[in-house]
Amino acid sequence: MKKIIIALDGPAGSGKSTTARLVAEKLGYTYVDTGAMYRAITLAALEQNIQLEETPLTELVKTIEVELRQSPKGQRTFLNGVDVSERIRETDVTANVSVVSAISSVRQKMVLLQKRLGESGGIVMDGRDIGTVVFPQAELKVFMVADIRKRAARRYAEMGNTNNSIEDIAALIAQRDILDSTREISPLTKADDAVEIDTSDLTIQQQVEMILQLAEQKISSSC
Ligand code: DC
Repeated sequence: MKKIIIALDGPAGSGKSTTARLVAEKLGYTYVDTGAMYRAITLAALEQNIQLEETPLTELVKTIEVELRQSPKGQRTFLNGVDVSERIRETDVTANVSVVSAISSVRQKMVLLQKRLGESGGIVMDGRDIGTVVFPQAELKVFMVADIRKRAARRYAEMGNTNNSIEDIAALIAQRDILDSTREISPLTKADDAVEIDTSDLTIQQQVEMILQLAEQKISSSC
């Protein structure tokens, strides 16, 4: 059975990561969350008090090592050998990651790593530019979208104990949407041959089923 590449792109809170993880589990594929890599670099910059600008960030990425490892608990993210999987989800990283991920030298290094991770197929990779830049040849490309209030409500539920209202979260997501989709390099856009799925009124189970069906068609037609 051929092992294909599944690229899943879309804005924050569209349901990509949970869906991608479950689809990968069902198919026995590896799930790769590329946002975690940009988050790890952002964390390194914050820890080292580095200005979030082109030249200092270009120097920084030359000196750090970002690694994704698979474990029974799923993907773990390592920065210079230290497991930062939980730390990179904190608000200071989230607030600054869109600025860091817009820098071309940062993207070049990460895209190279991502291509290496997926080169032998059997992968479900989620991000913003997977179907357009990292794997334009992916057998299946899905672009997930959802209403901003629904996306904010999902993030709110995920965050558990938070002082932020759904409106605050919606405003932050809207800000990230603008930065991610208007940046010069690899902006968040739907690939021409991607299937768009609006997840506003879908359950995770429904999203997973839809993608599995599409994947099975692609797998049988590429045998
Ligand atoms: O998916 P996420 O929220 O963890 O992503 C964090 C940020 O990283 C997001 O604001 C955009 C950026 N990103 C990117 O530019 N390209 C990717 N392939 C993945 C994420």
